[in-house]
Amino acid sequence: MAMSETSLKQAVDRWVNHERRTVTRSIFVDEDVYQAEQERIFARAWLFLGHESQIAKPGDYFVSRMGEESVILTRDRQGEIHAFLNSCRHRGMKVCRYDEGNTPVFTCPYHGWSYGLDGSLVGVPYFKEAYHSELKKNEWGLVEVAQLANYKGWIWATWDKEAPSLEDYLGDMRIYFDLMTDHPDGSPGGQRTWVGVQKWIMPANWKFAAENFIGDFYHNVSHRSVDLVGISPSGRKGRHLDDTSQIRRVLVNYANPEQGHGAGFFHASGDLPYNPSYGLAPSAVEAYFEKAHYARQARLGERARAQGAVGTVFPNASISAGRSIAVWHPNGPHSTEAWRFYFAPADAPQEVVDTLRHYAMRYAGAGGMTEQDDMENWNYATSASAGAMARRNDYHYAMGLGHESTDPPAAWMGQGLFSTGTSEQNQRTMYKRWAEYMAASSWAQL
Ligand code: FES
Ligand code: FE
Repeated sequence: MAMSETSLKQAVDRWVNHERRTVTRSIFVDEDVYQAEQERIFARAWLFLGHESQIAKPGDYFVSRMGEESVILTRDRQGEIHAFLNSCRHRGMKVCRYDEGNTPVFTCPYHGWSYGLDGSLVGVPYFKEAYHSELKKNEWGLVEVAQLANYKGWIWATWDKEAPSLEDYLGDMRIYFDLMTDHPDGSPGGQRTWVGVQKWIMPANWKFAAENFIGDFYHNVSHRSVDLVGISPSGRKGRHLDDTSQIRRVLVNYANPEQGHGAGFFHASGDLPYNPSYGLAPSAVEAYFEKAHYARQARLGERARAQGAVGTVFPNASISAGRSIAVWHPNGPHSTEAWRFYFAPADAPQEVVDTLRHYAMRYAGAGGMTEQDDMENWNYATSASAGAMARRNDYHYAMGLGHESTDPPAAWMGQGLFSTGTSEQNQRTMYKRWAEYMAASSWAQL
């Protein structure tokens, strides 16, 4: 049953305790919390839909998701990009049953209403005979998102017309988004997605994944087994490269308290020399990355000293290691549908793309050896939090509390909250913002 406005406001204070820095388990397992999240977070926030290269030509479409709802991302004949709720206005059938493709029109398989690429209702079977030509077609087009933004090729949308612009929503998280999507070793801009998106379902609440990627640098023990096996293209064991440079690297956490975003990265005290990382790949691959490393340094200057960044744009878009964006779609309180969009520089030769793709397959997704470790934790944390006894005990989020600062370690890092070393600063920021969304009845209160 949906919670009333008053009971929801009271509950939020119970769920996230800003003094003790605890969060109740119920927000990870309860159906009514989950339902409130759909209205208060996923129907309001900016959500990531895909990359413009996935719909390069008029008529191209990619079926994406916003929260638990299916959404069609498409490009009309004028080249304009749209996002529509994938649900027929007549009886709700999905008007597009494929993952991606090209079409002149979306025809509903149930009774045959058809919609143009701009969402307008263009065809109604038996319009004269059954509707006596009285149906006002212009009032029954597909439901379109309230705002859509194309940020350097990355497409975002929100259902709320009162939401701030995407640029304001991202704030200084843009600095980190740019760093993470600008290929870490490769050419600027011109990114393209790989063909296909990796998708899988995991029995865990979506927030576990979002808070892990916002900067959980504490969970190294989880990946001990893969460190022993070694899956990287370098041929060395462990996920971290040998530090041959002797240059000091410090873990920096950045949080955006206004909007709940966060990122973490290793900040080197000087320019890093190239560290060979592709010993098992064809030699052209190593040569490509070495050249790209110095090109990136020349292009980004001091910012190139940030390495291995990961982060989450609130609520559920996580960018990792500069090579993929993962979206954690809520799929019920105990289930998440994970989508990972991989991208590579547009100028990368095929053997480079192949090397990255093979590594991604070993690393991430349902069959990936590293992400499996994470999913195992989120899976059992969800199920072990659902019982009556478990619910009496809150989670602890106080690590590093009081050691944050508004002074960035370097000027380019923008404005926000900063800390160095392992900390739960970013997770605290995320749940504070989560609580604000859940307590607010409109964007005006956010
Ligand atoms: Fe789509 Fe009836 S449900 S035409
Ligand atoms: Fe992990």
